[in-house]
Amino acid sequence: MINIVLRDQSKNFVPEVKNLNTQPKLNITMKTRLTKWVMLGVLLISALPMYAQLNIIPLPASIKENGASFTLNSQTKIYYEKGLKQQAELLYSALSPATGFNFEVTDQKKAVKNIIVLKVSKGGAPMAKTDALNKESYKLSVKNDVITIEGTSPAGVFYGAQTLLQMLPAEIYNKQLQRKTIWKIKGAEIADAPSYEWRGMMLDVARYFFGKHFVLKFIDMMAMYKMNVLHFHLTDDAGWRLEIKKYPKLTSVGAWRGEGAERTGGYYTQEDIKEIVAYATARNVDVIPEIEVPAHALASIAAYPDLCCTGEQYTVQTQHSISKEIYCVGKESTFDFLADVFKETFALFPSKYIHIGGDEAQYDRWKTCPHCQKRKQELGVKTEKEMQVYFNQRIQKMVKGYGKTIVGWDEIIEDGLKDKAVGMIWHDQKKAFKASEAGHYSVMALTGYCYFDVAESNIPGEVKAATWLQPISLEKAYQLNPMLEGLDPKYRPQILGAEATLWSDQFIHGTVLQEIAPINEDRSEKYFEYLTFPRMSALAEVCWTAHEKQAWPDFEKRIRTHYKRYDNAGFGYRVPLPKLISNEKGANGFTIKLESDVEGAQIRYTTDGTRANVYSPVYTQAVTVPKLSDFSAITVVNRNQYSLPLYFPEKYDKFKKYGALVAEWKPSAIKGKDFGTLEMNATGKINENGEYVLSFWYTEGHSRLEIKSVELYKNGVKIAEDVHDGYTGSSQENNQYKFKVDAYETGAAFTLKAVVRGDVDNDSNGAVFIKKQ
Ligand code: ACM
Ligand code: ZN
Repeated sequence: MINIVLRDQSKNFVPEVKNLNTQPKLNITMKTRLTKWVMLGVLLISALPMYAQLNIIPLPASIKENGASFTLNSQTKIYYEKGLKQQAELLYSALSPATGFNFEVTDQKKAVKNIIVLKVSKGGAPMAKTDALNKESYKLSVKNDVITIEGTSPAGVFYGAQTLLQMLPAEIYNKQLQRKTIWKIKGAEIADAPSYEWRGMMLDVARYFFGKHFVLKFIDMMAMYKMNVLHFHLTDDAGWRLEIKKYPKLTSVGAWRGEGAERTGGYYTQEDIKEIVAYATARNVDVIPEIEVPAHALASIAAYPDLCCTGEQYTVQTQHSISKEIYCVGKESTFDFLADVFKETFALFPSKYIHIGGDEAQYDRWKTCPHCQKRKQELGVKTEKEMQVYFNQRIQKMVKGYGKTIVGWDEIIEDGLKDKAVGMIWHDQKKAFKASEAGHYSVMALTGYCYFDVAESNIPGEVKAATWLQPISLEKAYQLNPMLEGLDPKYRPQILGAEATLWSDQFIHGTVLQEIAPINEDRSEKYFEYLTFPRMSALAEVCWTAHEKQAWPDFEKRIRTHYKRYDNAGFGYRVPLPKLISNEKGANGFTIKLESDVEGAQIRYTTDGTRANVYSPVYTQAVTVPKLSDFSAITVVNRNQYSLPLYFPEKYDKFKKYGALVAEWKPSAIKGKDFGTLEMNATGKINENGEYVLSFWYTEGHSRLEIKSVELYKNGVKIAEDVHDGYTGSSQENNQYKFKVDAYETGAAFTLKAVVRGDVDNDSNGAVFIKKQ
């Protein structure tokens, strides 16, 4: 039995108040009372989320409930107008499995009742501002007998159908027959169009090879939320995933890494790509291939060594770092190779865009390569960076004949790039000012909001994800505004939208992978679903719904009904923690009020300092505890699906001046009187080159902590150490350890290893902090 902790928002009743004041024959008391009711009614109406009843994400531009209702049954027909056969079939396959109804799908309009009509409107969409947005707009009308989905194109019809699915019970997403569900849809008139034309997700299949089945599933996940760009990161230092017939070693060599039992990899055949693209196209998802130049290219260089400056034989990377071996800009053969690769690539991907990467090129090899230096002289340029602009221009010219526009990370948007390009802004949103003035387009993929390979929190037990950035919570993801404040309105059409990145380099980080058992286990894909949902739903609304209509409290109310949809669809997600409403201090301690952020889930809690689990008592009302740190609570969807704990960690406020918390030590981490190693994850704490001070601070226990040495590792390789004796107890001496970092890389994993012991036994507690000088 599942206890529903919260009121079901969908049952909120909005009182009809408008005629109350005109009631005849009221005495004064009644009138006053009624006025109060009217006021309460007004208050209630204004406090209620506008569309909570329908809970559609992304929130449509306009919804008017019309009091009607439509119920699907075995006699319901799907009628489609010319050009919409595929959309009708997709709708059939979305509705049929769970309902078990074998709907008649027809282009012969026989019935006027109990029918779903799909049509393309002739007059254009009502509200979209540009052709691209117009193409995706739709109107959806649900009346008692007829549902009409009217798009300005098949894409608009597809989106109307996605909205319709969200108006049906969550079980509609299930692929198994749901016998008990009544398929009732609330009557409404919806008119809708997106705010941005680029609503993207990047999937890094280079560092971790996701099989075709997952890519197709990922497209379904995107389509459910009207996301329309799959940026396919196909090539990198750790793998080349696209079959190119002219260069078979790209995949026979470049798609595989490691030796023996560790060997892993894979690639998409051209037939696979055709299937993926067709599947995506039907769902209005544009698949943009990324072929990275000039850096992040080691897998292809391992296959064809002549592509790099030295011509030496390298191997495909098995640990994450950014290779210094990049394509040689001096040799003409590099460009011949790329022309061939693009030719085959464009035959597979109809997208008008080609992503060429362009990020994080280190120029060490170009600086010493005779071919590159000759090129530099001929071009008469001063810097290697200008040579990268030259490189990009050559590519622009190469792809122009195919009608393609280049897309690249914001590094490509540099002076001198002749033709218009799309910059994916990851460093700093302000870069889009200059890009816009130069005539380029921008897509926001900002590290602070869009890097979904970073976990949502750093609560212990959080998914092992990239940690070089601060966590990105659901709310943070929702706060992205793709439009730059202060951008001249004339440039606004050049801000195309936003995109989240799902890098998979953490899957080749030794330090993190240790905790992810066999590398090819399906679990890696589950991790990605966990990283994707619910944040992608937030990004979808950021990109689709008009900014002025976005409101976190309202989104929060709608998203709580979507977890059931993910469950039914078989999509993994991160279960949100119970929501803390208040923790007021009173005479008996702290009174904690919680709400579940997941419709239909329980909250379970403890008050004895242990962490709540699926067997802990069920929360039904506010709980009072003497000490906040003794309380914890989790959201329980079912025995196997529950959240991380909400708890109140004791703060280390007095140590704030020593920097960020790196780790805590407890008796279990200390061997006792013998020295042992205390390992600490410093990824994200070390985030640029510089000098760092690490300090140890004892808080309680019999034993002080004695420290012998501290070593710093980058991607498993020792890069610095400080060996000296120090201790921390009721007093401290030499308890600070210093390091210099001069080869920082984005995405690198940093680990600290301290050799420590307790002076009496292992009963020692404390915390370690790090500060950049
Ligand atoms: C990037 O994160 N290197 C674009
Ligand atoms: Zn070179």
